[in-house]
Amino acid sequence: REIRHLEELFTIDTAKLKAITEHFVSELTKGLTEEGGSIPMNPTWCMGFPNGYETGTFLALDMGGTNLRVCEVILPEEKGEFDIIQSKYRMPEELKTGTADELWGYIADCLQQFIEYHHEGEELDQLPLGFTFSYPASQDYIDHGVLQRWTKGFDIDGVEGKDVVPPFEEALKERGVPIRLTALINDTTGTLIASAYTDTEVKIGCIFGTGCNAAYMENCGSIPKLAHMNLPPDTLMAINCEWGAFDNEHVILPRTPYDVVIDKESPRPGQQAFEKMIAGLYLGELFRLVLVDLHDNKEIHIFEGQDIGTLRKPYSLDASFLSAVEDDPFENLSETHDLLASKLSLRATKPELELCRRLAELIGTRAARLSACGVAAICKKKDYKTAHVGADGSVFNKYPHFKARGAQALREIFDWEPKKGGKSARDPVEIVAAEDGSGVGAALIAALTIKRVQEGQ
Ligand code: BG6
Ligand code: GLC
Repeated sequence: REIRHLEELFTIDTAKLKAITEHFVSELTKGLTEEGGSIPMNPTWCMGFPNGYETGTFLALDMGGTNLRVCEVILPEEKGEFDIIQSKYRMPEELKTGTADELWGYIADCLQQFIEYHHEGEELDQLPLGFTFSYPASQDYIDHGVLQRWTKGFDIDGVEGKDVVPPFEEALKERGVPIRLTALINDTTGTLIASAYTDTEVKIGCIFGTGCNAAYMENCGSIPKLAHMNLPPDTLMAINCEWGAFDNEHVILPRTPYDVVIDKESPRPGQQAFEKMIAGLYLGELFRLVLVDLHDNKEIHIFEGQDIGTLRKPYSLDASFLSAVEDDPFENLSETHDLLASKLSLRATKPELELCRRLAELIGTRAARLSACGVAAICKKKDYKTAHVGADGSVFNKYPHFKARGAQALREIFDWEPKKGGKSARDPVEIVAAEDGSGVGAALIAALTIKRVQEGQ
């Protein structure tokens, strides 16, 4: 009975998918107007696609979800090729709620270490850097960005509403690091550009990871909020949608009581309504909240008589826990049993294990199906009959069945016939894995920016 109730709460049928997509299209359009809406639709000043012949050596800094990455990207003469060397640094959890000085200091230290290691003893000119800063930023120029608000659980005072570039450059200067910031970009824009570099059918870049978002190319003539700039109407401008903010006013998404708790307990209640239902940061937390509720429920009482102290700790389960439950290959769910024992000190019965598995499926499926609404909405808005969507992020790359569930939802939204012709058959819109989105994308955008400046545009 309880499973049936959860199914009702978390299942999104075809009609609802279609209704969400329709509303999404109008919200994307509204975000481009002067008046604006919930979805920021940020102009990025990344104007057009690469032609494949961009060249040069660039640094790329990737501050996204789980890691901090520094890359050196070489774009050689050969069309569509790249070489990359990179170092990953852990993004310490304390940094996300620490001070601005600690954040910029840590990032500058990582860049310094990278340069000292890879260019020891070399006399360096100022190296051009593409900085992938994956949070909503308003930009009047490509080498600046005012943070609109922190997302993904970050909560650092004194950064929101300010240009993030000066304090970052100051931290570099203090350490004598020879770097010149050329472009500040979003991970979705990086993914769009890097994917289009190797696949000309790519029209949208998406991240399904700790957060969830997309970017696409818009014609300047369709961006009323840029009308005052008098840009030629057919000039292209990448738009970072920041679609995590879709439906902040709660008119269409079927929120469960657990979604409401996630929002209320987050550092920014009322923000990122869509993202909080689908992104990796929240999947494990949704699962945890349901289990705690079922334990406390007088009628159901799962894990009866057991101490659920560890389970009560907010964010004690992450999306990889859910992935493991969904991936459990054994009929008796013995891996899930062992996981609950080792991670949460819980002994689960067979029905409890079955409930955990079904709950993980419901949460994972809802995430994939809602994500597809965003993709479908951009395709409808732009009237793309066919498209490739370059995608990156831990949920897309690692969460079981995420891709297949997303593809199925797209088929339902667009009323496509089931694919015929086996594995080689293609859907008109396909979400494909991006190749190193943010590193290569940041380098390409830096190259395009330098070229535009040289050409005096
Ligand atoms: C990485 C990209 O692969 O995926 C980052 O390089 C991006 O730019 C990240 O932010 C998103 O995934 P996650 O799971 O780390 O949030
Ligand atoms: C959050 C950020 C957005 C980013 C996304 C994926 O939604 O606000 O900028 O693109 O996460 O990392």
